[in-house]
Amino acid sequence: MAAVNRRVFLSATGTALGAGLALHVNPTSAAASGLGHTGITKADLPTPALLVDLDALEANLKVIADHCRAKGCTFRPHAKTHKCPAIGKLQVASGAKGVSVATVPEAEAMVAAGVPGVLLTSPIVEPGKIARMVALTKQGGEVILAIGHPREAELLAEAAATAKLVMDVFVDLDVGDHRFGILPGAPALELARKISRYGSLRLRGVQAYAGLASHVKGFSARQEVSRTAMLQAVETRQLLAKEGHDVPILSGGSTGTYNIDTELPGGIELQVGSYVFMDVGYRAIGGRSGDDVYTDFRPSLTVLTTVVSTTLDDRASIDAGVKSFATDSPALPEAKDREGLRYKFFGDEFGLLTAESGAKLPRLGDRLEFYVPHCDPTVNLYDRIYATRGDHVEAVWPTVARKETADRTTKPAGQR
Ligand SMILES: Cc1ncc(COP(=O)(O)O)c(C=O)c1O
Repeated sequence: MAAVNRRVFLSATGTALGAGLALHVNPTSAAASGLGHTGITKADLPTPALLVDLDALEANLKVIADHCRAKGCTFRPHAKTHKCPAIGKLQVASGAKGVSVATVPEAEAMVAAGVPGVLLTSPIVEPGKIARMVALTKQGGEVILAIGHPREAELLAEAAATAKLVMDVFVDLDVGDHRFGILPGAPALELARKISRYGSLRLRGVQAYAGLASHVKGFSARQEVSRTAMLQAVETRQLLAKEGHDVPILSGGSTGTYNIDTELPGGIELQVGSYVFMDVGYRAIGGRSGDDVYTDFRPSLTVLTTVVSTTLDDRASIDAGVKSFATDSPALPEAKDREGLRYKFFGDEFGLLTAESGAKLPRLGDRLEFYVPHCDPTVNLYDRIYATRGDHVEAVWPTVARKETADRTTKPAGQR
C-alpha cells in the first residue's frame, strides 16, 4: 500500500474535513501487496474510531482456512460482517472460493473490487435489483444467487434470458429460521425442477443457513440444533441429486457451528462471517471443551474511544455511545486490556464507565479500546476500519455498501 502522507492523513480523518478523504488509501492494493505502513499510530486517530487488530484478524483467517483444508471443505465467507473489499481479498488469499454477500450493493462493491465468486445469500424480488445482478454478470462478475421461491426464479430467469445470459443459482432452503427460503424436501425438489426448465438459470447447489444454531450456548446443545437443521439440507440435496440435478455445493454454516457443519455427510461450503472479528456476544456461546468463553477465534475488532469527562470520582464518560456500538445485542462493550471496568450506554454520544472494587477508573484524556457487542451492525456505523498492528496503523480500509445507494432508481436500465 502506498504510504499515506501523515499530514494529509490527519486532516483527512479529522472532523473538519469529514469522511471520505482517507479513502485515498487503496484497499485493494493494501491487500494485494501485503500491508504497508502509514506512519500513523493509534494516538493520531480521532475517536471514536473502528480498529481491527491485524495479528488477530490474520490468526482468525488461518483457523478457517486450516480447518477447511483439513476437512476437505471449501469456504465462501460472509462479507456482510466486514463490508470491506480489502478483507474479502484477504479471505480469498487465505483460500476462500469467493465471498458471500447479503445485499445487491455489497455484491456490486465486491465485484467492483475484483473479488471473485460472489454469492448473494438473500432473496431479491425487486426488478431493479435483479437487473443489477444480471448486469454484474454481464460485466464479467462471477455471481451466484440463492433462490427460495418460484417467483424469484421466474423473475431472474426472464431478466437473464433478456440479457442472453445464464445465471448460476442455488436452491435456498428454510431449515428452521423461517426468514426466507423454500421448505426442504418436496417443495425444494419442485423448485429445482422449475429452475432446471429455464435455459437461463444453472443450478449449482443448495443453500441452508441455520441462524437458529449459531449462538446456542454450549457446544453439545449447539451441535444438536445445527445437525437437526442441516440434516434436512443434506437429505434435500440427496433428493435433488437422485433426480439428476447438479448440486455439487451445500452452502451454509456459521462461526458458531463451523466445526459441527463440516462433519455433515457430503461436506459443506462454509459461509462463516463473524470469525474475522468476533464480538462480545459470540464470545459468550462457549467452546468445545466446555469453556464459557468461545476462544476458537480472537476478538480483533474494537472501537477506540477517549475519556472525555471525570467530573465525579466514581465514574468516567467516554465518547462512544449508541452511535458507536450496535445495540441489538444484550451484550455490552468490553474494555480491552483493562480489568474491572463496566460500560453502560449513556446516550447517543457517550458511554459511562464505572469500576469494580479494586479496579481503577481511567483518567481524563485516556484512550481505551472496547470489544463490540455485535460486529456486523457495528461495522455498518463506520466509514472505515483502521487496520492496526500494535500501536501502528498499517492501512485504512473503507467500508462499502452501508446502505442502498440513493442515486439509483429501482427501474432496470433503459426503462423510463
Ligand atoms: C445467510 C447468512 N450466512 C452466514 C452468516 C454468517 O454467520 P456468522 O456471522 O454467525 O458466522 C450470516 C449471518 O448472519 C447469514 O445471515
